Amino acid sequence: KNLVIAIDGYSSCGKSTLAKALAKKLGFIYVDSGAMYRAVTLYFLRNHIDITDDAKVEDALQHIELNFHSRDYESHITLNGEEVSDEIRLMPVSENVSEVSAHKIVRHEMVKQQQRMGKSKNIVMDGRDIGTTVFPDAPVKFFMTADPKIRAERRFKELESKGNNETTLEEVFENLAHRDYADTTRKESPLVRADDAIILDNTDLTQEEQLDFALERVQP
Ligand code: C5P
Repeated sequence: KNLVIAIDGYSSCGKSTLAKALAKKLGFIYVDSGAMYRAVTLYFLRNHIDITDDAKVEDALQHIELNFHSRDYESHITLNGEEVSDEIRLMPVSENVSEVSAHKIVRHEMVKQQQRMGKSKNIVMDGRDIGTTVFPDAPVKFFMTADPKIRAERRFKELESKGNNETTLEEVFENLAHRDYADTTRKESPLVRADDAIILDNTDLTQEEQLDFALERVQP
């Protein structure tokens, strides 16, 4: 039987860094569920989809095909065949993704696709509702947290290293706070720790220490 490792937590807590490291070490496939919500958001922005109109949202979702592929151990996502991995990280998407991902019809479709990916393969999936809604029976679950200031600094440096100099540290901090609030208070599968998820606060941990911590729990 295949194995699913679920990693949930707040925005920019290092979920994807740990998930990628675990996947590489264990030979699993890494699935970034947040990238799926971001790609849907990008499609909605480009096509001016009114998210208050359920019929329009439903119709738009029928026209979206998302695919993951990996190159150089990095996960990439395509939206209808177009590589959008970098564009989905920029502010226009970050500022709208919470609202789009709170939509019931959007979540329903994404969860369905995510569950399909975990049916037959060993995967590490990170997100907000993986251990609670997508794979409530996952045998190993982590819930990641970190100091909000540290998180904003990490995300700011990441944006900067990609040549994005338009966004200030304050804007990044505000965006994270906004997304945390929206994710934890939304009606549809809000961000909450699954009862059986292991808490990993990485404020003072290096990436190696986090990987060791997780590996000890995956392979006791
Ligand atoms: O993980 P990342 O920060 O890229 O996710 C972007 C946004 O997508 C989150 O702020 C959250 O609103 C939404 N999301 C979600 N459920 C998931 C993954 C992401 O609602 N499983």
